[in-house]
Amino acid sequence: MSAKKIVFSGIQPTGNIHLGNYLGAVKNWVDMQDVYDNIFCVVNSHAITIKQDPEELIKKTIDLACILIACGIDPKKSHLFVQSEIDYHPALAWILDCNIFMGDMTRMTQFKDKSKKNPKNINVGLFNYPALMAADILLYQADLVPVGNDQKQHIELTRNVAMKFNRDFGECFKIPEPLIVEQGARVMGLDDPLTKMSKSATGKNHAIFLLDDPDIIVNKIKKATTDSNSDIVFDETRHGIYNLLCIYEALSGKDRISIENEFDGKGYGVFKNALADIIINYLKPIQEQYKQLKSDEKYIRDILQNGVDSVLPLARDTYNKAKKLVGLI
Ligand code: TRP
Repeated sequence: MSAKKIVFSGIQPTGNIHLGNYLGAVKNWVDMQDVYDNIFCVVNSHAITIKQDPEELIKKTIDLACILIACGIDPKKSHLFVQSEIDYHPALAWILDCNIFMGDMTRMTQFKDKSKKNPKNINVGLFNYPALMAADILLYQADLVPVGNDQKQHIELTRNVAMKFNRDFGECFKIPEPLIVEQGARVMGLDDPLTKMSKSATGKNHAIFLLDDPDIIVNKIKKATTDSNSDIVFDETRHGIYNLLCIYEALSGKDRISIENEFDGKGYGVFKNALADIIINYLKPIQEQYKQLKSDEKYIRDILQNGVDSVLPLARDTYNKAKKLVGLI
């Protein structure tokens, strides 16, 4: 590891990556690669807190690694690995478990939300999810963790358990900070521009997935909710068209004034065609690279193995230190 700050990012291999994930998170990760020492982890062990089809889970894990690389995560610059390949994660989670009070864990709102959504599968792993997440982060002495609002509480718990551990047993963990990326675009659902674009939304035209075919993209954009006005301007109160304009802005790299000028006097139809075009062209190289990676499973497995090899020593050092400090032989 170099002198750069260590950034740890975790992403679950559940569902397809959509434009909201891309513009809100993945694109920022790609752009951060030169600034920080980045560790990207496909957190498949977290995924099994919800029922998964085992074969599908393997496929989704590999698929996600391929998509991340296709999006520009460069395995030469960053570490990319799969969580379940390093057993120190659950091992450290156990030690942390014994240092997290029930009262603090029961405050986690994500557990409450997920329990409501899955009343038939409220398992101990789901409850304990934040301890495994804390282990992910603390094993690598991460300085920064890019997260959205929904994960801030988990980072707070991670910080608290790390501080408590260091105080009670001796210095072991770096205290991580959340990294809130400011200009990450918040993409809303195409069919419902008042809610954030989400993997689990059921509407057929809710999200554009990175692997969508061009004709599907054209269709989804055509059906995207707008309003009964006609001028194409960045007006936050007009949620539908504002959302589409923000996507256009993020993918075209043009500024707002020139976009408004470009579509001055033109209708929604013209704008939507241009938007669909820009999305299709933007995603084309990503889709092509994805296909190529998918056709070479050995290559992708090698990359993931290299990822494990490159981060394992740090995980082992941290774990062994923690183990020794608590008196485990
Ligand atoms: N809980 C995160 C999410 O659902 C995923 C995650 C697991 C994670 N471990 C992590 C994120 C460690 C950051 C750091 O988005």
